[in-house]
Amino acid sequence: MANPIEVLLKEKRTFKPPKAFAAHAVAQPRIYKDATNPVRFWEKEARALDWFKPWRKALEWKPPYAKWFVGGKLNVSYNCLDRHVAGPRRTKAALIWEGEPGDTRTLTYWDLYREVNRFAAALRQQGVRKGARVTIYLPMVPEAAIAMLACTRIGAPHNVVFGGFSPDALRERIRDSESTVLVTADGGYRRGGVVPLKKNADEALLECPTVKTVVVLKRTGQDVPMQRGRDVWWDEFVKEAAAYCKPEPMDAEDLLYLLYTSGSTGKPKGIIHTTGGYLTGVTATTRYIFDLHEGDTFWCTADVGWVTGHSYVVYGPLANGATSVMYEGTPDWPDKDRFWRIVEKHGVSILYTAPTAIRTFMRWGEKYPEQCDLSSLRLLGSVGEPINPEAWVWYWRVIGGGRCPVVDTWWQTETGHILITPLPGVTVCKPGSATKPFPGVDAAVLDDHGKPAKAGYLVLRQPWPGMLRGIWGDPERYVKQYWSRYKDIYFTGDGAKLDEDGYFWLLGRVDDVINVSGHRVSTMEVESALVDHPLVAESAVIGRSHEIKGQALAAFVTVKEGVATSLELGDELKAHVVKKIGALARPDDIIFSADLPKTRSGKIMRRLLRDIAEGRALGDTTTLADPAVVASLKAKYEEQE
Ligand code: WTA
Repeated sequence: MANPIEVLLKEKRTFKPPKAFAAHAVAQPRIYKDATNPVRFWEKEARALDWFKPWRKALEWKPPYAKWFVGGKLNVSYNCLDRHVAGPRRTKAALIWEGEPGDTRTLTYWDLYREVNRFAAALRQQGVRKGARVTIYLPMVPEAAIAMLACTRIGAPHNVVFGGFSPDALRERIRDSESTVLVTADGGYRRGGVVPLKKNADEALLECPTVKTVVVLKRTGQDVPMQRGRDVWWDEFVKEAAAYCKPEPMDAEDLLYLLYTSGSTGKPKGIIHTTGGYLTGVTATTRYIFDLHEGDTFWCTADVGWVTGHSYVVYGPLANGATSVMYEGTPDWPDKDRFWRIVEKHGVSILYTAPTAIRTFMRWGEKYPEQCDLSSLRLLGSVGEPINPEAWVWYWRVIGGGRCPVVDTWWQTETGHILITPLPGVTVCKPGSATKPFPGVDAAVLDDHGKPAKAGYLVLRQPWPGMLRGIWGDPERYVKQYWSRYKDIYFTGDGAKLDEDGYFWLLGRVDDVINVSGHRVSTMEVESALVDHPLVAESAVIGRSHEIKGQALAAFVTVKEGVATSLELGDELKAHVVKKIGALARPDDIIFSADLPKTRSGKIMRRLLRDIAEGRALGDTTTLADPAVVASLKAKYEEQE
């Protein structure tokens, strides 16, 4: 029997929205017409929020800086909580949480409101004022959302650091943001083990003089040292706190949060997001793209340490008064059906996950989803990297049972919310294409000269509400990174193709950022980590294609004079990268070489290294300083395989 996925792909099938779905969809076809004036469209969406004071002007655009809803005042936690507890959603589940060991907690809007108020009051009591940065380094537990919302309540911008980052990476982010408070936990559960968050934090804090208070949540219960005068248990911290904390009226353009992401240099960038535009963007996109109805249970599987967790675990769902599911652990613990058990148990109706996960599930086989009842699902989403058509169709057929629309959503940490996506119930989908810009979004594909092209660089020609407002402490880098390729046009760093129907096909990064399992890793950052090792002279890191992860890191390394290379040294270097950055940046391959191929001007020829790592025929080597290097590298690589 022919493989059903191959058959569907061969037919080049397009996927029309099911009629029954379309009839009740939040997004209706006229939405694109309604957005022909984007500013007016976004203003209408902003009005769906509660404002303490209306804005004077919807958009002030002085490239490369945009201000949205100028003069308006609002508070994010008020919009996510207070306005819901005032009505019938008071007892609705806001968060349904499941820990990796199987413990669960459901917090109603009222529960969450109380917790957030107390934590916010405690922070304020501690002297945390509007504008003071708070770093959050927590596992996926409700307290992560509580701490984030509490920060927004008092106007203290949060800086969430993914729990998988190393002490060095945490330290760099605390220092750059000059945070005065760190919120962490003793540990978190992951794949049956414990991630030692407090231990990592203590190591990071050895060189973070700005941090005066460390709030520690008890999650795993192992012994952790508490530094007197600095460290306080979460429960102690909130014990005396008031039950109500007045929400700070924030200017629409006040700083809401910083989130560090990898760029094309070794140093991560603190992406700046502000209040009014961001909340408008995430609220509207969540409602239309995920077709939110009152009874939905929405599960975005991202960690809150990434932008997807910020926008679609916490702010988007809660601003809409929806029920958001949070899961602490990995998909294969205790078995490979964990995700489907969660869907079944909590009746998840909307699932939003990453292509890497989908490809992993494909490899594990259909028996895991098949042994669970997935009939509650009605919509599926994908994010983080290009989804290959095979994975798309598998997701649609096996997880969605052929009934659920699939939305492949393109966006970035910088964009704050989804910008290119199908609208379920409206858009005809082509597996592998993120389809069309969201209403009010002006995306285009340009060639080197800035002319519209069929294939080239993905850009955004007009500002959108959730766009980043800069890079923390580095305005020059902001201009250089995003606004210097084309005048007054935002450059995404992605390549894209447009087909005959105007559909966008994302081709991946065109800069030195690698997308490993949907996580952004900078090649320069990994190179710096490698040369930080005392035995390494030079290194060049590239992304090679990988069946499951999308891309994997291959590191070419030249060791110092007289150093002997070995498999053990390779492992040691991998461990060194994990120590400097985190497990997400661990190279798959370390390839030792006596020299690296360079052009006459001294630039490392990455294209060539990629060809070597992927075992492809070599490209043009005539511009190489010493062509013999390549041949020896290639031989070496083949020998190590
Ligand atoms: C990639 C994650 C293709 C892209 C929200 C982008 C995608 C980077 C898609 C941002 C998609 C994200 N199709 N590529 N649907 N979604 N990307 O900042 O290269 O972690 O530039 O934000 O992920 O990654 P970030």
